[in-house]
Amino acid sequence: HAERTKVKNVQVVEYGRYEMDTWYYSPYPEPYASCHKLYVCEYSLKYFRKKATLLRHLAKLEARHPPGDEIYRSPPPPASNPGSSSNAVANPPIAVFEVDGKANKVYCQNLCLLSKLFLDHKTLYYDVDPFLFYVLCEVDADGYHTVGYFSKEKNCQDNYNLACILTLPCYQRKGYGKFLIAFAYQLSHLEGRPGTAERPLSDLGAVSFRSYWTRQVLDVLRDCRGDISVQDISDRTMMMPSDIIETLKQLNLLQYWKGSHYIAANPKVVEEYWRIYSGAGGRWLEVDLKCLHWQPLT
Ligand code: COA
Ligand code: NA
Repeated sequence: HAERTKVKNVQVVEYGRYEMDTWYYSPYPEPYASCHKLYVCEYSLKYFRKKATLLRHLAKLEARHPPGDEIYRSPPPPASNPGSSSNAVANPPIAVFEVDGKANKVYCQNLCLLSKLFLDHKTLYYDVDPFLFYVLCEVDADGYHTVGYFSKEKNCQDNYNLACILTLPCYQRKGYGKFLIAFAYQLSHLEGRPGTAERPLSDLGAVSFRSYWTRQVLDVLRDCRGDISVQDISDRTMMMPSDIIETLKQLNLLQYWKGSHYIAANPKVVEEYWRIYSGAGGRWLEVDLKCLHWQPLT
């Protein structure tokens, strides 16, 4: 695609108290596209060529949070990380807003432009109407600092519970990506139908989904007594059977015998895998259902 081969324009973004080197081209309009550095408001996601203009914008800004509805708010529980107390760093409170692309077009377009700086493949930028955006923020006395998001098609025919996902680089590797994935699956639980991520996945996306899926499948296998089917695992996790099968294959827990697959999960092996994967998987910020206030569209 022509877009993909375009030369990276904006090289640096100042964002809140961070400065981020960009990764890819993003179609910001001129004259912003020709700037070496952009200043992006971490609340409204508006972009500026000059710091002074950003500061004037901030001085006038009333809403120091995303638009839309706050559907999740928590002081997150301590990272559940058996066997490694060294990882138990206190996390700031977080919140998730549901933002309708149609009702908040400019905000969602700004979110897409910003996220394209860190996404290789073509994503949407301007046609945001058919999507909902679930925007994750760290909350402090200054306001709601946008950390990342995932998008979701409103009327998706393809079993996708997530279209695009991003954690801004300055907030990466803290468990927020897996939290957003877990969040998307919680929404699938409330909708009562399994889902998966829109393909293709980026390398970092694939790592994050595999990590989440592995942990989910192992959690179920560890809990279960006796036989369990792929469908049982799907019912419990809202994962699509194909993702479950891929995960089981990677763990070498799927056997093929007399023309059909069956799950060969020796409890000792499962326990050992679980110990390895849940421990190695960095921080896990659990989605606390008590903090989620959301109902599916009917
Ligand atoms: N190199 C190697 N592994 C990495 C990594 C990196 N730079 N960044 C994250 N990971 C791994 C983590 O170690 C973790 O794996 P583990 O559970 O086995 O430890 C997993 O990815 C998820 O980490 P987490 O901290 O929950 O995710 P994150 O907040 O860093 O966000 C993405 C993950 C994919 C959302 C983020 O990398 C991103 O926004 N990338 C750019 C946009 C993109 O590619 N989106 C996906 C499109 S399909
Ligand atoms: Na990690």
